[in-house]
Amino acid sequence: MMDLSQAKIRFNRSEESLLKKIGAIADKLNLETYLIGGYVRDKLLKRACMDIDIVCVGDAIKLSKEVAVIYNLPPPTIFKRFGTAMIKAGEFEVEFVGARKESYNKDSRKPIVQNGSLEDDQNRRDFTINALAFSLNKVSWGKMLDPFRGIEDLKNGVIRTPLSPKVTFTDDPLRMLRAIRFASQLKFDISLETLNGIKECADRIEIISQERITTELNKIILSDKPSIGFKLLHEVGLIEKIFPAMARLRGVDYVNGKGHKDNYFHTLQVLDNVAYKSNDLWLRWAAIMHDIGKPKTKRFNNKIGWTFHGHDAVGAGMTPSIFRKLKLPLDHKMKFVQKLVRLHLRPISLTKENITDSAIRRLLYEAGEDIDQLMMLCEADITTKNEGKQKRYLANYELVKEKMNEIEEKDHIRNWQPPISGEEIMDVFNIGPSREVGIIKNAIKEAILDGDIANSYKEAHSFMLNKAKEMGII
Ligand code: CTP
Repeated sequence: MMDLSQAKIRFNRSEESLLKKIGAIADKLNLETYLIGGYVRDKLLKRACMDIDIVCVGDAIKLSKEVAVIYNLPPPTIFKRFGTAMIKAGEFEVEFVGARKESYNKDSRKPIVQNGSLEDDQNRRDFTINALAFSLNKVSWGKMLDPFRGIEDLKNGVIRTPLSPKVTFTDDPLRMLRAIRFASQLKFDISLETLNGIKECADRIEIISQERITTELNKIILSDKPSIGFKLLHEVGLIEKIFPAMARLRGVDYVNGKGHKDNYFHTLQVLDNVAYKSNDLWLRWAAIMHDIGKPKTKRFNNKIGWTFHGHDAVGAGMTPSIFRKLKLPLDHKMKFVQKLVRLHLRPISLTKENITDSAIRRLLYEAGEDIDQLMMLCEADITTKNEGKQKRYLANYELVKEKMNEIEEKDHIRNWQPPISGEEIMDVFNIGPSREVGIIKNAIKEAILDGDIANSYKEAHSFMLNKAKEMGII
């Protein structure tokens, strides 16, 4: 629980001078003006925040223009459709909006905006903790208008809608995801009524664009303990609507009394483990995706029980279409996730056999510069509660890592390219681009990875000549 007994906001000097100036300009224009929303919330929670939202009862665009002039800034960017204006003042982005009543069209996010009082404006906001207004006018500087007991909710760590949840969520269904995102980011609880409201309105999420959904999903993933958000997404029935492939991981099947682990909760444990070590969004995505191929590959075998053979390759195969659907990038970030999904079982298999140099070289070659991230994922994948096993598995990975360091020092495979290129092969044998060139190039790479020849130009060259002879090229 936060101690907000004083509920006082402490501004640093540059913030205070900016806000006081805005207040003075508002006084001059005779506009009742407040600091509102996320900035007030984050200041009270002592979290960093650079986006300042200002609401005034009246013409916000006029206010923003005047602030820009006094501050000698370029004119504000005006978003006519929303009646808002934005200026960049040093490190801050300040958004100005006139207090408004807003009601939404049932089937779209497009609001019908009408001017309103501060109270109207607070009513239409998403959560009590985001509806706090801090007065900027000189006579009332610092007065906090908190009609929904948002400060108490901040103290108690509660997310609650100011109006009935049904009204707030129907106005903008994305708020259901925002509630869960704030719960995950701030480690807050969602009030029971608000949680029930989300369950009731979950279907409405379908009118929200995938981009906005994915922005919230990524914020959940980037929170310190993302499982908080994903458990809530499951509890309210949103996960199957926004990310069905992940929802399919949920559940345990039994045959002859034998069950497998619930792969949804296992995945969340892996995700939390990775999140504890790294803030990299894409490594976290790799944790989410690592077992995504399990539902498709699940089989029961009377002798060995449940198997998920090939779930690594199947999961890697599913990665591009899932990224496309979620409007995630399809560039090297997707390729990175796909690679980790494809390789996530390889280090385990190395610990099960006698580790050969060639197996290590192959893994180093395939993982390339992502090897450390891959090992981080593999370690995070150890979720057994049995301490003995946990220690043994980690020790095995230490051994693999030691071996990798030795081989890397010796052979420099990590960012390695085979010493003979396709062009050179074509030149030497005077042939054009063909299947043969690929066969020879691959054979050289395999021979080096297997340790049959050294990783040197000389040995690769004579190997190439022999291979060409064998193929009848020379
Ligand atoms: N808001 C809302 N409904 C939304 C989005 C925003 O009522 N769907 C209101 C809230 O009062 C919110 C403010 O607009 O505090 C600013 O929104 P935004 O900048 O998107 O979020 P923040 O609350 O500032 O939080 P964050 O920056 O973490 O997204």
